Amino acid sequence: MRQALYTPGLGYYSAGMRKFGAEGDFVTAPEISPLFAQCIARQCQQVLANFDTGVILEFGAGSGIMAIDLLQALTELDCLPTRYFILEVSADLQQQQREMFQTKAPQFLHLVEWLQKLPTEPMQGIVLANEVLDAMPVQKFRVQEDSIAEFCVTHDSNSFVWHEQITKNEALEETVKSLNLPINYVSEINLALSAWLQSIADILAAGMVLLIDYGFPSTEFYHPQRNQGTLMCHYRHHSHIEPLILVGLQDITAHVDFTAVAEAAQDAKLHVVGYTTQAKFLLACGLADILFSLNPDDKQHYLPKAQQAKTLILPSEMGELFKVMALTQNLDIPLLGFSQDERIRL
Ligand SMILES: C[S@@+](CC[C@H](N)C(=O)[O-])C[C@H]1O[C@@H](n2cnc3c(N)ncnc32)[C@H](O)[C@@H]1O
Repeated sequence: MRQALYTPGLGYYSAGMRKFGAEGDFVTAPEISPLFAQCIARQCQQVLANFDTGVILEFGAGSGIMAIDLLQALTELDCLPTRYFILEVSADLQQQQREMFQTKAPQFLHLVEWLQKLPTEPMQGIVLANEVLDAMPVQKFRVQEDSIAEFCVTHDSNSFVWHEQITKNEALEETVKSLNLPINYVSEINLALSAWLQSIADILAAGMVLLIDYGFPSTEFYHPQRNQGTLMCHYRHHSHIEPLILVGLQDITAHVDFTAVAEAAQDAKLHVVGYTTQAKFLLACGLADILFSLNPDDKQHYLPKAQQAKTLILPSEMGELFKVMALTQNLDIPLLGFSQDERIRL
């Protein structure tokens, strides 16, 4: 999965094709509507108000549109961060993001800095990752009677094929055994999650980490009926479950186990302060107010916005499958985006 997605020049995210939006393979919330970033901006405003020199660090900025819409909304709220870092693994996407800023929002270029790795200096502010966790490589496994098999990839004469072998990876074996899954259960796990969150905790002196993605708590993720896992591929708006075809041309993703995220965050000494659905988060951040501030008689402008809001919040669209989790460090405030909700169970 790592090679298929990130090999420079060949991997899906590293090989210069249109991925996001109608002409690409899938649509993410920031691509659907600036309303998404406008709501996140309100949450950012509340957090940035606690710091004299607060920064934002966005992981995996995709086309760059969320960064632009967010900086635009923060300008209107009069609370721009002192820097906006983008940490993007794909050199090709970094280039696309730069071009997007140059053509659409050159006025923000002085704030934006593209990073190859996390800053070494501690930062105060906000870490954002929208649909980044689902794009991290996972290990697919099968539970066997006395062991755990990992799915490896090999090839026959002209195609890639699976090869299952008993794992020698102790972390995989230990973690999967602790899940107590039935024999033959197939699923996947993101073994890099703990190290990723630890690296963020290490540089975040104070502030909030906001993770937005599709997924569930582990009781649903490892539900008895979900016994083939959640690995999915996206190619030109078609979804299927065969990652060994169209390698480098299609997206490969897995849902997020938010219980695992919360546990890894706690191990990294981050506080899990919010977990809710995307719909509840956006509404708590004032999505309806933003919509009502538009003139409904201006149908050309209003109707598309109302439609976009529906896509973001309806349960049948992105509203319930997508979750928002907030983690904090040295920041003790009740966060706006989680204020209208009892926490959903992890
Ligand atoms: C599904 S896309 C989402 C893009 C964007 N955030 C959006 O919502 O439109 C996943 C993004 O995460 C990036 N990515 C994946 N793993 C990453 C990591 N460990 N660090 C930084 N970026 C990463 C990918 O290159 C890509 O830009």
